[in-house]
Amino acid sequence: MSKSDDLKKQAALRALELVVSGMRLGLGTGSTAKHFVAGLGEKCAAGLDVKCVPTSEETRKQAEGLNIPLSNLDELGGLDLTVDGADEMDAGLTLIKGGGAALLREKIVAAASTRMIVIADESKLTERLGAFPLPVEVNPFAHETTAQMICEAISTNGLSGDVTLRGDDNPIMTDGGHYIYDCALGHIEDASSLSEALLNVPGVVEHGLFLGLATGAIIASDTGLKEFGEI
Ligand code: A5P
Repeated sequence: MSKSDDLKKQAALRALELVVSGMRLGLGTGSTAKHFVAGLGEKCAAGLDVKCVPTSEETRKQAEGLNIPLSNLDELGGLDLTVDGADEMDAGLTLIKGGGAALLREKIVAAASTRMIVIADESKLTERLGAFPLPVEVNPFAHETTAQMICEAISTNGLSGDVTLRGDDNPIMTDGGHYIYDCALGHIEDASSLSEALLNVPGVVEHGLFLGLATGAIIASDTGLKEFGEI
C-alpha cells in the first residue's frame, strides 16, 4: 500500500469508530471512502446493524459485494452520518468534490445527513480552494452553450481559467446521465458567490463546491490524525 493510501485508510478507520448499530449511513465515493466501506463490510459481517445509501454505482457494487445492507434515501427519510472523501478542503470545512464524477449524489446524500464527516490524507487540506479544477455537472443537451454560460458566470466572479469537458471527444457520463466540465480556476475567493452564479446557469445540474455540508473532518498525516469541526 502506498504512503498516501495508508493515510487514507487511517482516516477511514477512525471514522469507522463513529458508527454504531441502528445508524442510517451515507457511503461516499473514491479511493478514501473505499477503505471506509471495506471496514464497514467487516463490521457488518461481525453483526453491526446499519442501513446504507451509496453515493455512486461504484460504491453500490463494492457494498453489495460485502453484503452491506443497502436502502435508499427516500425510504430512510434521512441519514445519521455520511462519510466521504474530498478533492480539497479548507479549514472552514468548505470542500471541492467531484473528482470521481459522483458529486451530485454525494451532495444529495450529504445534504440529507445530520452529520457529514470528511476523510482524507493531508494533501487535500488547503488554505485556499481552487487548485483542484472545480467539477460542474451539466445536462448533455446543448452542453457547449451551457459551458459558455459557465465561463461567463466565472468571469463575473472575477475568475478565469480553462473550462474543459471531462473525456473530451468521448465525454464521461455520470451516474445521473450528465456530463462534467472541469473549471481550472487556480483559486476561489468567494465560494458562495461562485456557487450561486453557477447554479443560475440553465443546464447546470450541480457543482462540486460543498458549502456548509461537512460537519467534521478527519485528516491523516505523517504526524497523526487531525480532526476538524465536530467528530
Ligand atoms: C467523487 O466524485 C469525489 O467527490 C471523491 O469523493 C473525491 O474525489 C475524493 O476521492 P479520493 O478519496 O479518491 O481522493
